[in-house]
Amino acid sequence: MDKFVIEGPTPLQGSIPISGSKNAALPLMAAALLGDSPTTITNIPKLRDIYTFNNVIRVTGCKVDFDEEDGILTIDPKHLSHLEAPYELVRKMRASFYMLGALLGKFGKAKVSLPGGCAWGPRPVDLHLDGMREMGADITLDQGYVIAEAPEQMEGGTFTLEPSSVGATVNLVLASVLRAKEFTIKNAAREPDVVLLCKKLVEMGANIEGIGTQTLTIRGVDTLEGIAIRNASDRIETGTFMIAAAMHPQSNVTLTNVDVDDLGGFPETFSKTGADMTINKDTIHIKAPETINPVSVKTEVYPGFPTDLQAQWSTMMTQANGKSSVTDTIYYDRFSYVPEVVRLGGDMDVEENTVHIEGKNQLKGASVMSTDLRASVSLVLAAMVAEGHSDVLRIYHLDRGYEDLEEKLTNVGANIKRVAQEK
Ligand code: EPU
Repeated sequence: MDKFVIEGPTPLQGSIPISGSKNAALPLMAAALLGDSPTTITNIPKLRDIYTFNNVIRVTGCKVDFDEEDGILTIDPKHLSHLEAPYELVRKMRASFYMLGALLGKFGKAKVSLPGGCAWGPRPVDLHLDGMREMGADITLDQGYVIAEAPEQMEGGTFTLEPSSVGATVNLVLASVLRAKEFTIKNAAREPDVVLLCKKLVEMGANIEGIGTQTLTIRGVDTLEGIAIRNASDRIETGTFMIAAAMHPQSNVTLTNVDVDDLGGFPETFSKTGADMTINKDTIHIKAPETINPVSVKTEVYPGFPTDLQAQWSTMMTQANGKSSVTDTIYYDRFSYVPEVVRLGGDMDVEENTVHIEGKNQLKGASVMSTDLRASVSLVLAAMVAEGHSDVLRIYHLDRGYEDLEEKLTNVGANIKRVAQEK
C-alpha cells in the first residue's frame, strides 16, 4: 500500500491540466455496448476505476483497447455474448452496475452482481431495479446477483426517482433506449455526466426527449451505431484544484482543459471565499485571497453544490477566518475525513449531517488515514497547508479518481512524494 509523504506549507504556482472525467466516462463506456459498431472515446483518464470497468466489459466478450498514452478507448461490442458482470469485479466499483442497464437494453437479459456497501454507509440500488420493473422487466435476486429479463419490447411507463439519482437515471436510460416503447423518467438527474450520455446516445441513433431537464422521455429505437466521443473534463478534479489554489496562501494557479459549462453554481459559491478567479473558454485562473472568507454550503443535486466537493470545501474552511458549516443532503454520513483533519489541527465538529468548522487554525503535520476518494484528496490538501511533515496513508483510494495527482501537484510547487509502504 502506497502512502504520500508531504512537507508543507508551499504556495502553488503554475499550470495544472485537468484530466478526463471518470464519472462521465463510465456511462459512455456502458453506452458503447449498445451500438452495433465500435465506439471510440477520447480524453479518458488512466484511473483504476477505468481499468476495472474495461475488465468488466471484457468479461462479456467485447473487445476493449485502451491507448493510455493518448487517452483513447475503443470498445467493439461485436462479440458481446456473455451477459454477466461478476461479483469479483462489481465489488471493486459500484458503477459496474451500469452493466445491468446496458445488457438488459441490448439483449433483454442480464446477470449482474449487486454492489456492496461503501465507505460511507449503504448506497442502495432500489430505484434502478424498481424503474426497470416499471418499464416491464422481470427482476429477481439470486445469491447476491440481479437476474433481469425483458421481452423484445417493453411497454415502458413512467417512473419517478425519489430522490433523484445519477446512477439510476443512467441505468434506466441504458435499459430503455433500445427496448422500451415509451419510458418517462421523472426527477431525472441533470448532472453533466447524464446530459453527455443522453446527447451521445442521440448521436448513436436514440430518441430521448427532455435532455438536461428533470423529465426524460425515451422512445425505443431498433438499432444504435458506434460513434466517436470526446469525454468531458473532470468537474470534480477542477473544483478540487480550485480549492487547493484558494487555500494555499500566495498561490497562483491556472487550470487548463476545463469544461467550464459543467461547473454549475460552483464558481459563484467559490468566489465568495474572496479568491480571485478568472474564467476563460477552457481555463480557470485562481489567485489565493489574503484571508479566506468563511462560506457555509449545503450539497444539492446539480447545479447545486456537489457532494463530491464537500470534504474538500470543509477542509478549506479550516483556513477561513471565522465560523462556517457544511451540510451534506445527498449522503448523510460522508464525514470520515473529519477526525483525520482534526488530527492535523482543524477545529471541526460533526452534528448529524453537518460539519461545523471554526478557522483559522494553523495545521501541523501528522499521519492521517484515507478512507475514500474525496476524503483522501482532502487530507492531501490539508497536509499541503500544514506545517512540517505529514504521511497520508492508504492512498489507493486516490488512484481511483485523481490521475497523476502527485505529478500535477509537484509541478506547481508542492512537496509530495509517493512511497511504497510495508504491509
Ligand atoms: N439512492 C437511492 N436509491 C437508489 C440510488 C440512489 O436511495 O437506487 C440515493 C443515494 O443513497 C443518495 C442519492 O440517491 O442519497 C443520490 O445517489 P446517486 O444514485 O445519484 O449516486 P451514484 O450514482 O451512486 C454518483 C457518483 C458519485 C456521486 C453521486 C452524487 C459515479 C460513478 N458516482 O453516484 O461519485 O457522489 O453520483 O452526485 O458517477 C465520487 O466520484 O467520489 C462519487 C462517489
